[in-house]
Amino acid sequence: MTPVQNLMARLDEVPPLFELKAYRERFVFVHNAALCAQVSDDATFEKALAPSVLALRVFAAGGLFTAYTDEPNWSLAHDLLAPAFTKPAMREYHDTMNEVADDLLGKWAAAQDPVDVAGDLTRMTLETIGRTAFGHSFGAFETSDTDPYVVAMVDSLKHASLDSALQTLPMGRAITAWHNRRAADISRRLDAVVDPIITARLALGPRPGGREDLLGRMLHTAHERSGARLDVDNIRVQILTFLTAGHETTSGALSFALWYLSHDPEVMARAQAETDAILGPDPEVRPSFEQVPKFRYLRRVLDETLRLWPTAPGFARSPRWPTTVGGFAMLPQDWLIVFLPGVHRDKAVWGPYADRFDPDNFLPERVRARPAYSYLPFGAGVRACIGRQFAIHEAVLVLARLLHRFDLTADPAYDLVVTERLTLMPKRFTLEPRARAIVAR
Ligand code: HEM
Repeated sequence: MTPVQNLMARLDEVPPLFELKAYRERFVFVHNAALCAQVSDDATFEKALAPSVLALRVFAAGGLFTAYTDEPNWSLAHDLLAPAFTKPAMREYHDTMNEVADDLLGKWAAAQDPVDVAGDLTRMTLETIGRTAFGHSFGAFETSDTDPYVVAMVDSLKHASLDSALQTLPMGRAITAWHNRRAADISRRLDAVVDPIITARLALGPRPGGREDLLGRMLHTAHERSGARLDVDNIRVQILTFLTAGHETTSGALSFALWYLSHDPEVMARAQAETDAILGPDPEVRPSFEQVPKFRYLRRVLDETLRLWPTAPGFARSPRWPTTVGGFAMLPQDWLIVFLPGVHRDKAVWGPYADRFDPDNFLPERVRARPAYSYLPFGAGVRACIGRQFAIHEAVLVLARLLHRFDLTADPAYDLVVTERLTLMPKRFTLEPRARAIVAR
């Protein structure tokens, strides 16, 4: 099923706000920048839980992503965990990000056959979030077997997507009752991964000097003002939330970026020249923390990739009071979906060649000239992505290292195929990595 791509193909035929009926459920979409700006403003709209996100509450109710904003656990967790995603926190994660990137580079350097790009990058991003945030290694590069957590997580996402589809069918509720019994089995498998992580950390106690990672903050930090703490059930769902939200979107973004880079020699040459200028001639050198933000061109490549393929392709919003959007009356109990692939390709903002990959769309002067809320791959307002800095730091670091070390050739017979779960990801995309012969000074 590819509902996102089906919609993308039809955008020219539908108005900027349109309604789709799927049996009992009514889906309203907005897909131009002007309406996106209206509904993304927290003063008048707020996050809503679309059916696909609601269905995830079976596994992660009260986790940051699936919580209602007025649920006390949302603000508590947000306040407690936001400091784990600031710039100083990235400095703490930087060396681990480099270590995991070493494993990826080692695997690609030894590969005899073309590498499975999305598969390997997903291993890398899962390992990175596991080690940096929870001090837990999935051993992602030690075995070719899929980790039991990943199997259970994929099952939970598939379950949620089927569940929300079933809700729309006339007999759906009866079927979901049966279907939910399967959810209990998936939950048990997820808990079997998460519980030992909690137990192991509790046994270690707080870290000296208060330098806690994300899990340490969850377990040992009290709210500055209220003194409240997260309870263990909530910590369990927060771990699931971060393990899931913290890896697929980033590996998808990296995979799409590599697809564009390997299909555009000019962009690749500029990107590799930048890595050489910053990192110098040694292909094994690791970027320092301070060097990562200096890869300005690579950052533009990443931003442009997330414009054309926002790996989290939409988010839902509800009005705070009765209002109209694009001539359509809405009440606070109504919700609509901001369809990012449409917003990010709106010709009124991005020009007549909006579908064309051009990292220079993110030159600072062009960014400044664009209207607010026309580029939202990380969502909007207080419920925007808490992991944005983490994702950008990790993605730029890994792209820099890959391009510095390898020339990457795509299979000329491969046409981009995009698979859709809750996120978007290139499918069956392979690259042939060859050690670069000369890395110019
Ligand atoms: C390229 C990578 C990423 C993209 C495109 C992305 C996108 C998004 C979007 C669009 C939202 C808002 C969803 C909504 O309004 O319903 C969101 C929320 C969230 N993201 Fe990300 N994300 C990325 C990486 C990450 C990472 C690395 C982490 C954690 C380490 C993370 C954790 C979260 C969490 C916990 C939320 C919920 C925040 C809240 O509601 O308070 N994300 N993300």
